[in-house]
Amino acid sequence: MPFALVTGGAGFIGSHLVEGLLARGYKVRVLDNFATSTRENLAGTLQQIELLEGDVCNLTTVHTAMRGIDVVFHEAALPSVARSVANPLESNEVNITGTLNVLLAARDAGVKRVVYAASSAAYGNQPTLPKVETMTPDPLSPYAIGKLAGEMYARAFTQLYGLSTVALRYFNVFGPRQDPTTQYAGVIAKFCTCAVQGVSYPVNGDGEQSRDFSYVENVVQANIAAAEAQLDGHALINIAYGERTTLNQIIALLNEISGQNLPAQYGPDRAGDVRHSHADLTRARQLLSYDPKVDVREGLRRTLEWYRQK
Ligand SMILES: NC(=O)c1ccc[n+]([C@@H]2O[C@H](COP(=O)([O-])OP(=O)(O)OC[C@H]3O[C@@H](n4cnc5c(N)ncnc54)[C@H](O)[C@@H]3O)[C@@H](O)[C@H]2O)c1
Repeated sequence: MPFALVTGGAGFIGSHLVEGLLARGYKVRVLDNFATSTRENLAGTLQQIELLEGDVCNLTTVHTAMRGIDVVFHEAALPSVARSVANPLESNEVNITGTLNVLLAARDAGVKRVVYAASSAAYGNQPTLPKVETMTPDPLSPYAIGKLAGEMYARAFTQLYGLSTVALRYFNVFGPRQDPTTQYAGVIAKFCTCAVQGVSYPVNGDGEQSRDFSYVENVVQANIAAAEAQLDGHALINIAYGERTTLNQIIALLNEISGQNLPAQYGPDRAGDVRHSHADLTRARQLLSYDPKVDVREGLRRTLEWYRQK
């Protein structure tokens, strides 16, 4: 039974990944300092995992977390463009130094593979769509720079030390447990809360900006495939659903699913945000046999249902 370390395993994506790994028979250890999450996210799995409360910025802690581990899923980060614009130094520390610590400790512990949570933010605002992994990156925020630096460190560790690494560039992930309460929250988490409360949807800009929204279950599927696939050298792979949806379309879908007609409330654009985003998934299909099962509409239905019950 392979032993997996999930850094940031108490987070939104990490906690779903923990469930997916347990269901597939992995033994799981989580390293998290609850900077952007709570223990509640692990309520259903706490009895079946090892939980290590600690900071990825502390190399000794990361070395301890790495003992006996076969595969690492590095999800820990401060995952917000806006937060990184407000505090670039903090973002740099967690997202770059934290990642370097994880790679160093994984190398030293002889881990078989590190799967790194990269981000579509690396592509920036380039007009070419869909985004293909071979495009030149154009990071626009400290967050995007940090995520890109993590990828490059991962690739360098493969080339320099023979550590097997895969970077998965996630495009806007959504689903149950995404925190809607902070000012940095994902847009779908916020909109679902509006739909449940019956209030208008606050939109940064005109709502015509688009994203390749991906339901979290698809991302879990991609991570497990990335850990188990036969791969030569470092791989950089887009992970999304493969369709572009505008915020106005998300609002229309949420209104339709919840049987309401709540209006949007348009405000100013947000600093550092990109206008459009859409993934080319050719490489994910080729290397990981990636086949996302849950489309945006079904993902929204499940997510809204979760927020309703909460
Ligand atoms: N959600 C998305 O749409 C999206 C898109 C692209 C990439 N990502 C990446 O996916 C990963 C997971 O994101 P998420 O949306 O689940 O966010 P999240 O905030 O829910 O999860 C991040 C987790 O990392 C933990 N963490 C933060 N700083 C830490 C530290 N110093 N030491 C240990 N743990 C720490 C947090 O407490 C949290 O549990 C991140 O690396 C993020 O950059 C997310």
